[in-house]
Amino acid sequence: MITVAIDGPAGVGKSSTSRALAEHFGLAYLDTGAMYRAVTLWCMDRRLDLDADQPDQEAITEAVADSITGGHLVMGLDPEHPRVSLDDRDVDEAIRSTRVSEHVSVVSSIPAVRHVLIAAQRAIMADQDRGVVAEGRDITTVVAPDAQVRVLLTAREEVRQARRSGQAQSGSAGAEDLAARDARDSKVTSFMSAADGVTTVDNSDLTFEQTLQVLIDLVSSAMEEE
Ligand code: DC
Repeated sequence: MITVAIDGPAGVGKSSTSRALAEHFGLAYLDTGAMYRAVTLWCMDRRLDLDADQPDQEAITEAVADSITGGHLVMGLDPEHPRVSLDDRDVDEAIRSTRVSEHVSVVSSIPAVRHVLIAAQRAIMADQDRGVVAEGRDITTVVAPDAQVRVLLTAREEVRQARRSGQAQSGSAGAEDLAARDARDSKVTSFMSAADGVTTVDNSDLTFEQTLQVLIDLVSSAMEEE
């Protein structure tokens, strides 16, 4: 069983590369950003006020814990169709809406919420016999610091911004100020530079296929060492 941990900022192509990597090796795929998004949507659906000057952290944490322990949130782990559902409702599109993107940091910055989600992520990962590719912001450092492969996927800001605008034109993500989002996220997790033992892959000048190949090579060597 192999664990591959991939962190990085928004707009770096983390999800598509991680999915292709998991597919290549027949591993499960866990999108932890989608988990933070889904519990944010869950809180909004429960009419918790995320716009308040001081959001009710206790109520938010309680709702998030309930979404996990009550089995309401189900993370699909198939890299080809990583469906996220809340009470059997497919929320893949809803969790990518601007409304959720704008509020997710309110939820993800609450330490008790992170505690709940990190435990849930570790449990999901431990359950995968074949192994797993998990991606997010704190996988290499907090969720799975012992992963056999740990990568910080990064790219220059203007490249990431251009990639995101391209995605927005095809309707899959709203154009947004990545610098502002990264600044917000960086207050909570440290993913702009690699921690000790983490391999940095800067894909500013690499195609998708080239990036994927670099990661395939890293995973292959780790598997040979196993
Ligand atoms: O990767 P993404 O854009 O879907 O992530 C959504 C948000 O969740 C992002 O603002 C940062 C947060 N996040 C986090 O705090 N920790 C993670 N492991 C993954 C995402």
